[in-house]
Amino acid sequence: MTSTAPILEVRNLSVLLGGRRGFLRKTVLPVQAVKEVSLDLHEGEILALVGESGSGKTTLGRTILGLQRESAGEIRLDGVRVDGQAPEAARRARRAIQYVHQDAGAALDPWWSIGRTLAEGLLIHGLKDKAERMRRVVEMLSAVGLDPVSARRYPHEFSGGQLRRVALARILLLQPRVLILDEPTSGLDMSVRATVLNLLLELRKQFSLTYLFISHDLSVVERLSDRVAIMHLGRIVEMGTSKTVFAAPTHSYTRTLLAAAPRLDGPRVASVEQTALLRARQRA
Ligand SMILES: Nc1ncnc2c1ncn2[C@@H]1O[C@H](COP(=O)(O)OP(=O)(O)OP(=O)(O)O)[C@@H](O)[C@H]1O
Ligand SMILES: [Mg+2]
Repeated sequence: MTSTAPILEVRNLSVLLGGRRGFLRKTVLPVQAVKEVSLDLHEGEILALVGESGSGKTTLGRTILGLQRESAGEIRLDGVRVDGQAPEAARRARRAIQYVHQDAGAALDPWWSIGRTLAEGLLIHGLKDKAERMRRVVEMLSAVGLDPVSARRYPHEFSGGQLRRVALARILLLQPRVLILDEPTSGLDMSVRATVLNLLLELRKQFSLTYLFISHDLSVVERLSDRVAIMHLGRIVEMGTSKTVFAAPTHSYTRTLLAAAPRLDGPRVASVEQTALLRARQRA
């Protein structure tokens, strides 16, 4: 996998947030949320981004997407520089990268049927043929495990887990190659979480996707990801295969993080979630 050129390359990326001349001329100093971060993402892999709250994971994700401008550094998509652009141009250049945020589903218009919302996304992206739009919507609904009649339903008629599926369908219709998944299962019940994670593994295969998977849950990360990047105070302090990082963390912060988390190799009985994931991984 690592023999091919990376789909995404990030070099020495830094991001400053929120500096301004504030009230009564007091200056609010900018926060350097991301500090000289470098990472590669290879086609088909799952790279997990782990770190405590406020360590800069979301900011890094949003900057890679082009929603937040970098203050320094380079971003390459398929070897082509996409940094240094104004927001609109940046998003256009990076359409192959899409974001699944933790409240996926919350952004759906409550007055629109799911079918209309999904079809609208295709229309915005230039698909004029209405019948073709509906065909693709129905096809995508079944790809994410929803009944095609769901197209006629409204957001309030879906459960939390189903709404995540709708949100994934909406994003996948845009034919992304890289998904930045920001805590994609937060707020879901354990059992629903497992089904959503399994769905993500299946979709990755079916649509040849590459994931940057932001998560707090180390047990999920250990099962799901090929490589792990540990983020601390805006920097990536350790990166390696999941196996190596979990078995032999080199950075003291990683050791602290792992010591604080329940581990799979302990005497604990594997949860429903872990068992389901393990099975999915073995099938994959
Ligand atoms: N709009 C903003 N203006 C100023 N500072 C911000 C802004 N957004 C975030 N920050 C700061 O940037 C740092 C990184 O925040 P970020 O949201 O990227 O962290 P995170 O790792 O995603 O945290 P969490 O796990 O809680 O989602 C934090 O110190 C945060 O307070
Ligand atoms: Mg975040």
